Amino acid sequence: TTSSPVAMVGVLPPDLVERDARHPFDPAPGLLGRRTSDRVQPLGLRNGAEAWLVTGFEEARRVLADPRFSSDRVRHRDATQLGPGETGGPAPDAPAPGERTDGMFVFMDPPEHTRLRSLLVGQFTVRRMRALEDRLTEIAVEHLEAMRSAGDTADLVPAYALPIPSLMICELLGVDYADRAEFQENSAVALNTGAAPEARAAAGGALYAFIARLVAHKREQPGDDLLSGLVHDADPPLTDAQLVDVALVLLGAGHETTANMLALGAFALLDDPDQLAALRADPAGRIDDTVEELLRFLSIIQLGVTRVATADVEVGGVTIPAGATVVIGTPETNRDPRHWDDPDRLDLTRPRVPHLAFGHGIHQCLGQQLARIEMRVGLSELVTRLPDLRLAVGREEVPLRNDMLIFGVHSLPVAWG
Ligand code: HEM
Repeated sequence: TTSSPVAMVGVLPPDLVERDARHPFDPAPGLLGRRTSDRVQPLGLRNGAEAWLVTGFEEARRVLADPRFSSDRVRHRDATQLGPGETGGPAPDAPAPGERTDGMFVFMDPPEHTRLRSLLVGQFTVRRMRALEDRLTEIAVEHLEAMRSAGDTADLVPAYALPIPSLMICELLGVDYADRAEFQENSAVALNTGAAPEARAAAGGALYAFIARLVAHKREQPGDDLLSGLVHDADPPLTDAQLVDVALVLLGAGHETTANMLALGAFALLDDPDQLAALRADPAGRIDDTVEELLRFLSIIQLGVTRVATADVEVGGVTIPAGATVVIGTPETNRDPRHWDDPDRLDLTRPRVPHLAFGHGIHQCLGQQLARIEMRVGLSELVTRLPDLRLAVGREEVPLRNDMLIFGVHSLPVAWG
């Protein structure tokens, strides 16, 4: 089995991922404490393995652009995936290059990755993205109206931040309206790393069966959706198992990430009245910069981007030995003082330069265009349709997702009116 892209903190040192409730938007204290001139540093994992942590922007880009660093955590045994006492190095039972038949392309290298990725890129068409944007505005407005008619307080996570990406994935994959509740329920439980393992496993099984049925249905009756496109456009065709995996990758990668960016992004804006006022004064003109700055500033992916060196490689004056696992410290790489002035400040007006919130190189986020649309529409509708929206609790009372690799908030009590 392949590890889920949605993971617990696992063997990472907790002080590098658990953020301080007084400064929930800043990198975790242990990661901030490593802001030194050494931008590639040894990193001891809790399973006893030694890995390398990259905190510099340029150094991270070099690792992610270098084909000698592999994403195939199955074949090369990424140390962040090992239990206590297990050792790294090539897995004896790993398939040889070219032999993998699953569709988990996030964890593949070229040439297997290349084929699946380019099939998918071909499906994220401008026309399809525009159609999604129209639907998204409807969905956002519907949810805000429902919140308003139910009272003057809400938990923004279940009321708004979670349903938006979930419904967008339904649109993308072509899940029928009648089936959405079943799909959403199972994916919510399967992706909820806080739920009981048995419940998650059962929901995961139900979700897999649901998607397998969906694939069969698209073979029979193709629609205008991305999954139908993948079923019919691939030559040679993808197997059913590959199609189900690809759908699961999209669901896993596109769901929690965007949901947390929406909730945490709203939290950061509500916590900073000056920045929020600037956005409200000119939402159409400022929303694009707002989205990019929030992506940089919040870096919710934490230490979730990892690679394994397949050769000795020198990066930032350090030789990373073959077989070593490299962990990209994204929250720090996005605060590199060589790259941004005053990096720890949320500043919606700063000059826009590339950040690493979506990664870099051949695995750079495939859904970034969609994620940006979701944040743009989701956040601007939120701050304009509820012009007096505010936090309903103190900043330090908001429960942080410190147990999860994808950072965010478990709930966000808000009030208006
Ligand atoms: C890959 C972040 C939303 C689909 C990635 C990677 C990052 C990332 C950092 C690179 C992983 C690596 O190099 O190992 C984010 C963030 C999002 C977001 C912060 C929200 C704000 C989405 C959405 C979708 C999506 C909405 C799909 C609809 C993917 C896929 C990959 C990926 C398929 C793997 C690409 C590959 O391996 O070639 N994402 N993502 N993501 N993302 Fe996203």
